[in-house]
Amino acid sequence: DGSLIEYADHLVDAVRTQVGQGQALCALSGGVDSSVCAALVHRAIGEQLTCVFVDHGLMRAGEPEMVAELFGKHFGMNLISVDAADRFFAKLEGVDDPEHKRKIIGEEFIRVFEEEKAKLGKLDYLVQGTIYPDIVESDSDKGVVKSHHNVGGLPEDVDFELCEPVKYLYKDEVRKIGEYLGLPHELVWRQPFPGPGLGVRVVGALTRDRVRMVREADAIFREEIAAAGKESEIWQYFAVNPGCRSVGVSDGRRTYGDAIVLRAICSTDAMSADVADLDIAFLSRVSTRIATEVAGVNRVMYDTTPKPPSTIEWE
Ligand code: XMP
Repeated sequence: DGSLIEYADHLVDAVRTQVGQGQALCALSGGVDSSVCAALVHRAIGEQLTCVFVDHGLMRAGEPEMVAELFGKHFGMNLISVDAADRFFAKLEGVDDPEHKRKIIGEEFIRVFEEEKAKLGKLDYLVQGTIYPDIVESDSDKGVVKSHHNVGGLPEDVDFELCEPVKYLYKDEVRKIGEYLGLPHELVWRQPFPGPGLGVRVVGALTRDRVRMVREADAIFREEIAAAGKESEIWQYFAVNPGCRSVGVSDGRRTYGDAIVLRAICSTDAMSADVADLDIAFLSRVSTRIATEVAGVNRVMYDTTPKPPSTIEWE
């Protein structure tokens, strides 16, 4: 759409004018908004931008590698990748309340980011991928079901300014601008993935092993959905470790392992959702793969509950 491309070029110019000769820093999550924002600001100011990617150890399979490959190698950005998994797992040990987990993950993320920021010295602009719905929703977040949003403004004692080039755009506009800027289709159109990552897809206290199970199961589910050509019909599809164990049998021997839940939903705005109509043969094939290929898992279930009364995520 021509006018959106013109607008994207205008945003690039506006960032160049705003930042001038300054130094900008962007926290890259691998999500759509921060990725598009980083690509836009990079086009505007190139070397003056540094991106920090904090790997909390709760990413999906292949994501940290994708970020390094795309932003570091392909775009040639100044990219600092921090493997902070040990820190996050240490802070989260024994914590089973979902909101407490979110809080810890959010705070630790900021702490790691602040440390990297301090190492870089003088910073003039902090780039944020705030989009228009973030602003609107955080204004109306009265009866919060889950704490999703990071729109809190800046503390008063900082000596840098915010650069939020996509803050008046809706998600589909951000995606189109991302494609115009040369981001890959899979990234730009990827399904929503919560900031706390797999941390809210393991019910209860996290262990590295339970996160591993969910990550491997999720990768198999995604692979099968893609192979079946169903990606575009389904809003979100993922695996959950619900924290229950059951008896199974493998090579004639009793096993006692973890169960995995598959969730696939159709939605337009994540406010309500219908269960994706996946056939039993497909689900059974995915289940068998997961229960045989993922060590420690011996049972797979499909969540058939719409939203409401359930939420999309289990936590
Ligand atoms: P629920 O589970 O509330 O999810 O039905 C609605 C949408 O929000 C996503 N979600 C999150 N996104 N941080 C995020 O950035 C979070 O803590 C979080 N929790 C849920 C969820 O994936 C769905 O798209």
